[in-house]
Amino acid sequence: MSTLSTKHLLGIKNITREDIEQIFQTADNFKEVINRPIKKVPSLRDVTIANIFFENSTRTKLSFELAEKRLSADVVNFSASSSSVKKGETLVDTVNNILAMKVDMVVMRHPNPGACVHLARHVDCSIVNAGDGAHEHPTQALLDAYSLREKLGDLTGRKVLIVGDILHSRVALSNIFCLQKLGAEVRVCGPATMIPRYIEDLGVKVMLNLKEALAWADVANMLRIQLERQDIQYFPTLREYSMQYGLNRALLEEVGRKDLIIMHPGPINRGVEITSDLVDSDYSIILDQVENGVAVRMAVLYLLAGRAKSSS
Ligand code: CP
Repeated sequence: MSTLSTKHLLGIKNITREDIEQIFQTADNFKEVINRPIKKVPSLRDVTIANIFFENSTRTKLSFELAEKRLSADVVNFSASSSSVKKGETLVDTVNNILAMKVDMVVMRHPNPGACVHLARHVDCSIVNAGDGAHEHPTQALLDAYSLREKLGDLTGRKVLIVGDILHSRVALSNIFCLQKLGAEVRVCGPATMIPRYIEDLGVKVMLNLKEALAWADVANMLRIQLERQDIQYFPTLREYSMQYGLNRALLEEVGRKDLIIMHPGPINRGVEITSDLVDSDYSIILDQVENGVAVRMAVLYLLAGRAKSSS
């Protein structure tokens, strides 16, 4: 039986703070495991997991696959570009065919918002959302909050600024839900055209001036401009975007922020949302986020598989 309040991880909106704390505690154990010379435990030895990716991914796909292998699960990878989806098969039929081969869990990335929710209603296994359109990316938010907690301790009252293309970002929405559940205050900053109208209804203040926003924040999470999801042009040129909303060292020095923590979910457009030197600077915890992603995803899979017992 699962020890989380949910059979699936479809988003952060519908999980509890207790779920998040439990994932973090479990991830602490797995982080210790993956730093051992033998980075593997037998926890999911009799579980088969299918990674179904209908959209490109580097970090999330590899991170889930490593997490599964380090838990000793059997893993199959499915890529839409080489599958029978191209011949007109529905998503539910595709996944039910995969489950008929005795697959126990599905990790899915899909370009359509709500695709994972739809699938969870129609198939009989746990679904983990690895990003669905501009809706949610729950494991990204969990690894982001876990990385911040590692750096700052308790997140109550911490000020987190999310900068950039909020409108097309599943990372922004999942981060807002996760950080608020953990007691942090979240604000967003970016061009007005890229801030969704509903954002203030979530208790998130909008700041249009990056300098003022940085003066407020403990943390700046810099998002990529998602050109692949843009139907119209939301700002004149990337150069102008970068001049107004790009993060660079001169701006940090002008604001006097030596203690700011810089995050980025990746992939990074160096020189657009953030200058290359800041990506690689001591301000940045970007590679810590990637490292923690494996432990956090191990925790999610382990808890959803209902095997919450000693991991060592
Ligand atoms: N952060 C993230 O989702 O990256 P990928 O698209 O490479 O998986």
